Amino acid sequence: MNLKPLQSQTIIEPFRIRSVEPIRFTTMDERKSLLEKAGYNPFLLKANDVLIDLLTDSGTGALSSDQWSGMMASDESYAGSSSFYRFEAAVQDITGFKHVIPTHQGRAAENILFTTIAKEGDVIPNNTHFDTTRAHVEHNKAEARDMVIPEGKQPQLIHPFKGNMDIDALEETVEKVGHERIPVIMLTITNNSGGGQPVSMENIRSVSQIARKHNIPFIIDACRFAENSWFIKTREEEYEDKSPIEIAREIFSYADGCTMSAKKDGMSNIGGFLALNDDVLAQECRSLVILTEGFPTYGGMAGYDMEAVAKGLYEALDEGYLRYRIRSSAYLGEKLTSAGISIVQPTGGHAVYIDAKKMLPHIPPLEYPAWSLTNAVYLLGGVRAVEIGSVMFGLQPDGTEKDASMELVRLAFPRRVYTQSHVDYLAEVIIAAFEQRKNLKGYKIVKAPKVLRHFSARLTPVEP
Ligand code: F0G
Repeated sequence: MNLKPLQSQTIIEPFRIRSVEPIRFTTMDERKSLLEKAGYNPFLLKANDVLIDLLTDSGTGALSSDQWSGMMASDESYAGSSSFYRFEAAVQDITGFKHVIPTHQGRAAENILFTTIAKEGDVIPNNTHFDTTRAHVEHNKAEARDMVIPEGKQPQLIHPFKGNMDIDALEETVEKVGHERIPVIMLTITNNSGGGQPVSMENIRSVSQIARKHNIPFIIDACRFAENSWFIKTREEEYEDKSPIEIAREIFSYADGCTMSAKKDGMSNIGGFLALNDDVLAQECRSLVILTEGFPTYGGMAGYDMEAVAKGLYEALDEGYLRYRIRSSAYLGEKLTSAGISIVQPTGGHAVYIDAKKMLPHIPPLEYPAWSLTNAVYLLGGVRAVEIGSVMFGLQPDGTEKDASMELVRLAFPRRVYTQSHVDYLAEVIIAAFEQRKNLKGYKIVKAPKVLRHFSARLTPVEP
């Protein structure tokens, strides 16, 4: 037989499913009442009342059979468990950092880092601080300063690395503020709050050079390091032939440490770490870990959590997985774009971000257009998304409100959970909201806490 090899255009899910979890269908009337009871805040809905949950890609992924088998064989010793040493070896192998401090999740690593190094009057530069990162910086009375490149703030503009740090702004900040008031330079890969956009290797190198020149530690927020590595491979020419793990190793080689939420590219349901090269800083951080997380060989994780992370970090770097992962977001992005919906371009790694400011010009920023769209997709299709706009970022430390630079709705994909037909359905729901956009109303906040208000605020629709 003389058969030509198949040139398939379809990138299929690189796994088969052998354990399933039913999802629950509700009617639109049910959802109306459920949303009202939840104070019009999707965070306050019960997960069982959600059909497709795209609230976050954090801790929501499916574990592999290999991870489960490692978990069954975990060592739950309080001190010196072999699961810790497997976890430590994996982190060291991929990041190259000397000290690995386990934490229960990413923000715990942030808490330990910033409590140790930040004080009043300090400035922390970052491309864009994620909300918990910003909250930890501000909790320690330091200033969190975002300096992503200007292209990163224009949703429709196509640029391969919209998560890049504005190098001129960074240099100017270091000159003006002085290195003694900058305890650390951070870089978030991928830039979650800026649309899940990647940072180029060239930019990482430049940030590193500035940090080294001024003797300032350079710490990477590495939550989505594997996805960022894939974007470097596919968008930065000289990395085309490198494997994701080689790219990841090079990224980390330019930094002095990282904070990590293993709930993202650790492919686990919980876990995280702070990794550092500096012996003295690591010692100080370890003392704090004992106080807040647990003994430094488990740091708030069970032995089986550490096993899941040790395997998950490698699975996240698998080429077949990354190709499918990044293609899934692009696939949804293409469907929305061809229906005329504006999204952050190009699509990011873990999520698709809809530009609600563009879709809903009749809703003023402080009536929260992105929040309104988030509620509409729940009402129409039982889909839970998250607002990244003025509810999340609008409240200033002095208690005043300022509109966020972008009003986005994030549809974040849990890892290895949903299939292509889920994505097709999703597109239908969002397009239905778009078609009825003129009927969407703004919201006002009825009650909210002073920090991280989006998690628990209660809102109500604005009546004309
Ligand atoms: N840094 C980034 C860039 C993040 O996206 C997150 C979490 C954290 C730090 C904190 O990690 O949740 O383990 O404490 N992002 C989740 C999200 C919550 O939905 O984007 P954590």
